[in-house]
Amino acid sequence: MILAIETSCDDTCVALVTARGEIRSNVISSQRVHDRFGGVVPEIASRQHLSLLPAALSEALELAGATLDDVTLVAATRGPGLVAALLVGFSAGKAVAAARELPFAAVDHLHGHLAASFLEPARLEPPFLALVASGGHTLLADVRDHGPAPRLLGQTLDDAAGEAFDKGARLLGLGYPGGAALERLAVEGDPEAFPFPTAARMRGLDFSFAGLKTALLYKVRELGETEAERRRADLAASYQRAIVETLMIRVRRALEQTGATRLAVGGGVAANGALRAALAGLGVAVEIPPAVLCTDNAAMIASAARYSTASSFPDYLELDVYSTGERPR
Ligand code: KG4
Ligand code: ZN
Repeated sequence: MILAIETSCDDTCVALVTARGEIRSNVISSQRVHDRFGGVVPEIASRQHLSLLPAALSEALELAGATLDDVTLVAATRGPGLVAALLVGFSAGKAVAAARELPFAAVDHLHGHLAASFLEPARLEPPFLALVASGGHTLLADVRDHGPAPRLLGQTLDDAAGEAFDKGARLLGLGYPGGAALERLAVEGDPEAFPFPTAARMRGLDFSFAGLKTALLYKVRELGETEAERRRADLAASYQRAIVETLMIRVRRALEQTGATRLAVGGGVAANGALRAALAGLGVAVEIPPAVLCTDNAAMIASAARYSTASSFPDYLELDVYSTGERPR
């Protein structure tokens, strides 16, 4: 069985997955301590991982009805993510593996998101186009095989889609993380009330949400406190529509470019109803894994480990983590 650990951001995750890709347990301890700061505080995330990880590990083993004797491969997220947070899970993974002289797989987090689709029972075989839209990343990939180096077609140049939701929600006084709350508010609003930008003229398959966020800020200021409060639902609906359209423009382009007939969607933003409705109208098969496999989790890391090259003991002891933007190749 594969034991996998994921601590790249603010979720402490441990999973046990069989070599065939069946999930035996998938424990996710979400750290709510960051909410009052309006974003993840790396140092706090790291300390929380340290205190939550032992219990998450025991729980994952217990739920799987397994002991460490059943583990044949250990995997952990190596990056990209918050370095201090990654270090906790990565070091723990190496330590467990080393103590038993087991092989260890260092997994790329984004490979993990794509590999969520390779888990049983709803296994999706490549080739397909993948959209990952979360709080930490937004990207499009041409997935031709199960391996760790999918062809990246485009990614965000500034904010991630979930981050855009969160920043908009914060501006509208909805708290953090605010994607789901913004969606609820948007239900009562008119998505056509305000024409927010979608970076439609930007060529290629990269995403940008910074202009949109600024446009909302200026609109709220222009309306003034009372009017902005009265039009909150319209602001939310129009803002959500712009995020969804920013994503959809690139998805349509990528489908055209690759000729893909299937699209897999991952990341926390995949929960968004407006995005799901837009995706359903694309005319291609859209596969969205269950929510627990869309957001950060360790089962997807175990899944990716099945298609990564593991190092044998003690070679992996010298491996280090990498932050966002410094992925080694
Ligand atoms: O994948 P995930 O857990 O992100 C990372 O940790 O990177 O997803 C979290 C993100 C947050 O930004 C959250 O606001 C957003 O996904 N999100 C949503 C919805 N539910 C979660 N955004 C829009 N609509 C939703 N219903
Ligand atoms: Zn993620």
